[in-house]
Amino acid sequence: MSAPLLEVVGLGVRYGMVEAVRSVSFAVDPGQAMAIIGPNGAGKSSLLNAIARIVPSSGVVRFAGEALPHAPDRVVALGISLVPEGRRVFPRLTVRENLLAGAYLRRDEDLDRDMAAVTELFPRLSERMRQSAGTLSGGEQQMLAIARGFMSRPRLLMVDEPSLGLSPRLTTEVMSALVRLTRTQGIALLMVEQNARMALRSTDRAMVMASGSIRLAGAAAELAAHPDLESLYLGG
Ligand SMILES: Nc1ncnc2c1ncn2[C@@H]1O[C@H](COP(=O)(O)OP(=O)(O)OP(=O)(O)O)[C@@H](O)[C@H]1O
Ligand SMILES: [Mg+2]
Repeated sequence: MSAPLLEVVGLGVRYGMVEAVRSVSFAVDPGQAMAIIGPNGAGKSSLLNAIARIVPSSGVVRFAGEALPHAPDRVVALGISLVPEGRRVFPRLTVRENLLAGAYLRRDEDLDRDMAAVTELFPRLSERMRQSAGTLSGGEQQMLAIARGFMSRPRLLMVDEPSLGLSPRLTTEVMSALVRLTRTQGIALLMVEQNARMALRSTDRAMVMASGSIRLAGAAAELAAHPDLESLYLGG
């Protein structure tokens, strides 16, 4: 058995009186794809943001065996990339400039190779390298946000709601590119997704979160067949 890449132990997030995440523990192995599903307000985004160290939290997060410092820049440098909810791109920068912004902490010489990998997976982006990102369609902006997350060469890519606001057809396109990107590059994936069925088809393991806690966890295929899935997912 390989050592986990990401280990979360007793993680808690609190906003004043609101306990958004309550002592959550789980692990992600290298190269593994994990989905987090659950109703609105379950604490899914808070969990990803806490791991990325952009919101304060209690508990322990270990990455590649080391305690993860509470410093977002260090987290990126260590190999964790977060594509936040709402596909934020720099609208006035070109597609190419957005991709380079994702690589800002890197000093290596492999940028061209990674740029080529990204444009192969997202051909829509390669046709629009010199176009400003604000003029892209919603689906193209989501692809760009994911591609930019990849440009920091993460070992773990975290993506919050990749299908939000996308048509079913674009959701399928974005999801399959995301899965191919992480699988071909051996990157672990931690994905929050409203579209539970789609998420469970695209990942190895999954967790259902509700009211800040993990209610169900297991192999994605087993969870998809679980009798309690619908009621938990709908917030019961
Ligand atoms: N900055 C904040 N200040 C205060 N409360 C917050 C803040 N961010 C989130 N919350 C609260 O924490 C809880 C969890 O929110 P969170 O955004 O993590 O849920 P979520 O599972 O991502 O929901 P959604 O599916 O709607 O994106 C909610 O009750 C929310 O209102
Ligand atoms: Mg959220």
